[in-house]
Amino acid sequence: MTAQPWRQLFDSATPLVGAPLGGGAGSPALVRAVAAAGGFGFLPAGYKTPEALAADLAELRASGTPFGVNLFVPGPPEIDEETFRRYAREIAAEGEPYGLDLAGAPRVHDDDHWADKVDLLVREPVPVVSFTFGLPDPAAVAALRRAGSRLLVTVTSVAEALAARDLGVDGLVAQGTEAGGHSGTHTPHRPAPPVSTRPLVRDVAAATGLPVVATGGVAGPDDVRDLLAAGAAAVAVGTLLLRTDESGASRTHRDALADPARTRTVLTRAFTGRPARGLHNAFIDRYEPAAPLGYPELHHLTRDLRRAAAAAGHADRVHLWAGTGFRHATTGPAATVVQGLTAAL
Ligand SMILES: Cc1cc2nc3c(=O)[nH]c(=O)nc-3n(C[C@H](O)[C@H](O)[C@H](O)COP(=O)(O)O)c2cc1C
Repeated sequence: MTAQPWRQLFDSATPLVGAPLGGGAGSPALVRAVAAAGGFGFLPAGYKTPEALAADLAELRASGTPFGVNLFVPGPPEIDEETFRRYAREIAAEGEPYGLDLAGAPRVHDDDHWADKVDLLVREPVPVVSFTFGLPDPAAVAALRRAGSRLLVTVTSVAEALAARDLGVDGLVAQGTEAGGHSGTHTPHRPAPPVSTRPLVRDVAAATGLPVVATGGVAGPDDVRDLLAAGAAAVAVGTLLLRTDESGASRTHRDALADPARTRTVLTRAFTGRPARGLHNAFIDRYEPAAPLGYPELHHLTRDLRRAAAAAGHADRVHLWAGTGFRHATTGPAATVVQGLTAAL
């Protein structure tokens, strides 16, 4: 490696990024392990209280590891009471084994503590802040830049990339349709046609001139090399880290990733009301046709169900987020995964 374009964004020895993995998988230990192996890790802030985020920041700072933080950009309420209630009734039977009254669950909209989390990161800056689900407001961009952070926005189309560039961010995360977990689309009600990671990276880099982090579907070192050759400054992996020792993914999720009976991933909104890629399971089979869009209202509706099912080992009621490369997710130290992906660069 001669030119090191990723250094415009990350102070790491290699261009390998540990993608933010919200909901438990992306533990501080995983972020540290990725960095110790020469990569750059992102701590997910989504779903956490500001207090829990502050505790994770303190833990990582104490370790001396450079790291980034990922925030969910909140959107307006997207689902009316009648549509929400119809879906809550539709899935109600799934909650019964766990004593959950899903039909009567309230419709909850929230902004994931956006202002408090931005304030925290302005007071206690980190080298890089990334955003998903939309564009951050200009005031947040200005405050975080003044605090000294480089800013990245996840995009799923050239149009989103151009809008992010116009906001003045330092780089983009180009998320192809192969990616595990939620799509970062800025317009879940009008998603752009799905694009694979490689052409997306090429087109976003050409259209914006910004450094691009490629993410989605990486299954091994050849994919990392291909994406760098397509113009990526760095490559972020998510699914390949889910089964590692430092991952906080549940046992149910880890086992499902290795279950030979689970042969494919699909895009679904049945669990959270926002398109996400996960292993196909019975919940998706039953409810995808009826599932409306409506994030985070559907996320809140199904959260306790998913938690209870994961604890009970009932994978068919759990959101088993996974990218298309899931068959290559291995157990063992995360450092081994990072080294395996970067050894031949
Ligand atoms: C379990 C899981 C949780 C995720 N959580 C987040 C998150 O909190 N924020 C985010 O921007 N992306 C999140 N993603 C998407 C990843 O950051 C990344 O785009 C994706 O994992 C890349 O595709 P791959 O899984 O095929 O490597 C998540 C993905 C997974 C699999």
